[in-house]
Amino acid sequence: MASTALSTTVNPTKICTGKNGVVAPARMLKSVKGLSSKPCRSVVCQATSGVLPDDVPDMEKRQLMNLLLLGAISLPTVAMLGPYTYFFVPPSTGGSGGGLVAKDKIGNDVILTDWLKTHGPNDRTLVQGLRGDPTYLVVEADKQLATYGINAVCTHLGCVVPWNSSENKFICPCHGSQYNNQGRVVRGPAPLSLALVHADVDDGKVVLVPWVETDFRTGEDPWWA
Ligand code: FES
Repeated sequence: MASTALSTTVNPTKICTGKNGVVAPARMLKSVKGLSSKPCRSVVCQATSGVLPDDVPDMEKRQLMNLLLLGAISLPTVAMLGPYTYFFVPPSTGGSGGGLVAKDKIGNDVILTDWLKTHGPNDRTLVQGLRGDPTYLVVEADKQLATYGINAVCTHLGCVVPWNSSENKFICPCHGSQYNNQGRVVRGPAPLSLALVHADVDDGKVVLVPWVETDFRTGEDPWWA
């Protein structure tokens, strides 16, 4: 084991006691007349660091302790950062073209054949859409799923706009904005039509895909893209 103790040995020094009780090295007492009268003793002064060699951990042990400490800190840190990082990763599309499989109200994938069995002509029912936005799937009069879905978030202040089948409109309960059956705004204060998404079918499941093309209801560029 390596030793780090400091040990310094000096030559023996004579310590004498003077007549008046002064204790000092002999060479000092001799320089003062009459002070040295008693026999002198030789002493050896030794300076050490005060730490015994066995008390100091060697380098290997210190490195091992550092590694253990690093491991103890790293594991919980990685465990915490993993879920935090995962939060910012977009969910898997589950379909093609950057889309997302639509989820019904209990979180199951929307299967087209099952959906059409329970949703008749002119039905508009909410599913979970892109970014978690409530989105209407539209069943056309011919019992086919429309190729577009309608984002239910009101363009005024963000209320979810319910479908009113008797009025054949979406009517916002917050400030009375109205949208036709395709989501085009027909009465304010909402300034814009409801956003669109594509409603595709992939492997039997309804997949919602961002709509970046011209808004077919207005002939304008999509304000949401
Ligand atoms: S939030 Fe819909 S009309 Fe105001």
